[in-house]
Amino acid sequence: MSETFDAYVIDRGARGALEAGLMRRDLRELGSTGVLMRVCFSSLNYKDALAARGAAGVVERFPHVPGIDAAGFLAHDPAARPVLVTGYGLGTELWGGYGDYVRVPPEWIHPLPEGLTMREAMILGTAGFTAALSVDALLRAGLDPGRGEILVTGASGGVGSIAVMLLAELGFAVVAQTRKPAQEAYLRGLGAAGILRRLPEDETTAGKALSKARFAGAIDTVGGEVLARVLKEIGYGGAVATCGMAAGTRFEGSVFPFILRGVQLLGIDSVQCPRSVRETLWTRLATTWKPAGLAAIVREIDRRDLGPAIDEMLAGRRTGRTLVALHPDDARPPS
Ligand SMILES: NC(=O)c1ccc[n+]([C@@H]2O[C@H](COP(=O)([O-])OP(=O)(O)OC[C@H]3O[C@@H](n4cnc5c(N)ncnc54)[C@H](OP(=O)(O)O)[C@@H]3O)[C@@H](O)[C@H]2O)c1
Repeated sequence: MSETFDAYVIDRGARGALEAGLMRRDLRELGSTGVLMRVCFSSLNYKDALAARGAAGVVERFPHVPGIDAAGFLAHDPAARPVLVTGYGLGTELWGGYGDYVRVPPEWIHPLPEGLTMREAMILGTAGFTAALSVDALLRAGLDPGRGEILVTGASGGVGSIAVMLLAELGFAVVAQTRKPAQEAYLRGLGAAGILRRLPEDETTAGKALSKARFAGAIDTVGGEVLARVLKEIGYGGAVATCGMAAGTRFEGSVFPFILRGVQLLGIDSVQCPRSVRETLWTRLATTWKPAGLAAIVREIDRRDLGPAIDEMLAGRRTGRTLVALHPDDARPPS
């Protein structure tokens, strides 16, 4: 095995400005503890875009290799079952999936579930796993398709697109909220029954603690004031799974949705989520919940094209999922 590998590296240049690009690195930079994994596919998540721009609180030190998702095989046993890593400290605390290799603690590694190829697992990636966590949280909160419509915010994004597909395939009437009018047909194709450009916060409801109860529940991938508005629109006994922060981390609201309508606010974390939950939901994503339309939501790119894709994502202009193909020819079906 070569002593070097290629990786999409971000680093501070001589004048302190952030530089990014594909570089050859020494394998010893991955450290000596943990399991070495050869990466075939990764993906682009919002957190990767933040990491690639050196966002404080995401990247701990430079140089750094982003990529919170990786699918590939164990370098010491390439004939063994393919594996995947999503979340934990991949691409944040440790160098991530935009390198030909990652070295990670063994407990971060999961066998690729039967029913998913590496490519499919990375089309889903952290976004798909987060969508599955969110849907599971709504089900566990007691929602079922008979209770009414479910709103998905940031619907054209990665988590949003997969949440729309999962909910629609489970029989829920999904209303997709998007800022992209051009993506209406895309969202209807994923199963959305209705489209909202934005929540109807007008002068009559702006200052009020509650609005008309329109939805039985919601998956909010956007955060900030969007989450505040969503909470006002949830009907009695409803629930909101909150996972995102593209529109901000703070929101202002009142306790009334909780104490007058019994609404539940469900926090979603894909990073430190326990192993048993991961296994359950990845198995579901590979079987009963496997979305039929994965091909419709994916764009495949090379690591050299990450820069423009990251810019587009941070501007909120990207749609669906971005698959990063490192070594697609090395990927084999699960044995
Ligand atoms: N909790 C967790 O464990 C977890 C895991 C994964 C992701 N996340 C978070 O979930 C969110 C979505 O992640 P992703 O990978 O799906 O990102 P993404 O593909 O970029 O999707 C984000 C979507 O949010 C909407 N949006 C972006 N900026 C906005 C703004 N300023 N105001 C309102 N809407 C905005 C856009 O959808 P429209 O144009 O359709 O409105 C955009 O496509 C991110 O905040 C990410 O950090 C959290």
